[in-house]
Amino acid sequence: SQALIDQARGVMEGNDRGTYTVPTHGLYPFQWNWDSALSALGFSHFDMDRAWVEVETLMAHQWDDGMVPHIIFHEPDDGYFPGPNVWQTRRDVPTTGITQPAVAGFALRKLYDRTEDKAVARERLAKLLPKVHAWHKWFYRDRDPKSTGLVAIIHPWESGRDNSVDWDEGLDAVPIEGIAPFTRRDTTHANPDHRPSDEQYKCYIWLVEYFRGLGWDNAKLHDASPFCLVDPGFNGILIRSCDDVADLAEFLGDPSMASEARAMATKGRAALESLWNPTLGQYTCYNRAAGHLQDTPSIGGLLAAIADVPHARADALARRIALLAERCGYLVPSHDPIDGAFDSLRYWRGPTWLIVNYLIAEGLGRSEQGAMAQRILADSLRLIEKSGFAEYYDPNSGEPCGGGDFTWTAAMVIEILK
Ligand code: DGY
Repeated sequence: SQALIDQARGVMEGNDRGTYTVPTHGLYPFQWNWDSALSALGFSHFDMDRAWVEVETLMAHQWDDGMVPHIIFHEPDDGYFPGPNVWQTRRDVPTTGITQPAVAGFALRKLYDRTEDKAVARERLAKLLPKVHAWHKWFYRDRDPKSTGLVAIIHPWESGRDNSVDWDEGLDAVPIEGIAPFTRRDTTHANPDHRPSDEQYKCYIWLVEYFRGLGWDNAKLHDASPFCLVDPGFNGILIRSCDDVADLAEFLGDPSMASEARAMATKGRAALESLWNPTLGQYTCYNRAAGHLQDTPSIGGLLAAIADVPHARADALARRIALLAERCGYLVPSHDPIDGAFDSLRYWRGPTWLIVNYLIAEGLGRSEQGAMAQRILADSLRLIEKSGFAEYYDPNSGEPCGGGDFTWTAAMVIEILK
């Protein structure tokens, strides 16, 4: 409804800092990589110029090696930990030294399609597309050194699904000795029961200090990291974005970029098949450090639907989601409610998130699973009507969790309703 769209727009405008948005004031006072790219989709329905600017600001902070960092610390803010003095990446505008899901390519495709003045769109795209393509090449070079077709994450924060059960086993291999004492800030802004545990935070910080000690040299980090996980959702997003870059490069008349991007997508999609878990009927994570496929039934394996997977796989994913619907009130829970590790309140260990719902629905819709896509979007709107624009929601009660007035949640509402 128009009232909901107006409210969502108000949330986005409240978090707008001019050339970028913060996910929410207080808890996340900087620019986050995938939050930003997805928020651009919301802007595209009421301010197309502002939508492009959001992605332009993000890509302006790309590293020389191609990586696009997960946080850009535009303005100092004491309310967040770990800040620039912990990361020490030595950049003019400080950033973190790790990355996040590569949704920018996917978002650019939508911005291009929606921009009426194609001359303007092509001009902006001509500057942005080589950067996004360089990021994707960085992924396949530095995060897949054996050229398997699948990239690894080396820190849970890279996945965007910080405390997912998917990372528990990998984090067991991360020591926590020797880290500098620290005080968490997130738990002063949000209910500690909704956030990662102190033990997990120590692992997160250990990894940051360890990578910092290696000089943030991406040529070294993949092989050096004790935490090295292949996430089907993360790879699915990258595959889809490579395909979108290939399409856009064709529109721009750049056949060499188009064929490079298409080759990465094709290889990635074929390799994704190795993450299919027949017992669960979904994809699951591969623990590259330990060398085996995990059995953790989390949403990462459903998010792979974004990658235009084979129809038989999309059909199985839709059936798997139908099963989850019998186990909770609001699709799609970030972890299977019947699994012992499920926690309905704690961040990525159970709660439902609108951005992931949107991405799964987008993928299922393209793979002849439109009915399930609609069901997921309908549940998403039920959550908004009941609990407002929260960071995430209890999948049983629908109660709001984490931060409030959340930018990308609002952006998804506009995207779904428009
Ligand atoms: C946080 O600080 O909780 C963020 O999710 C890290 O990206």
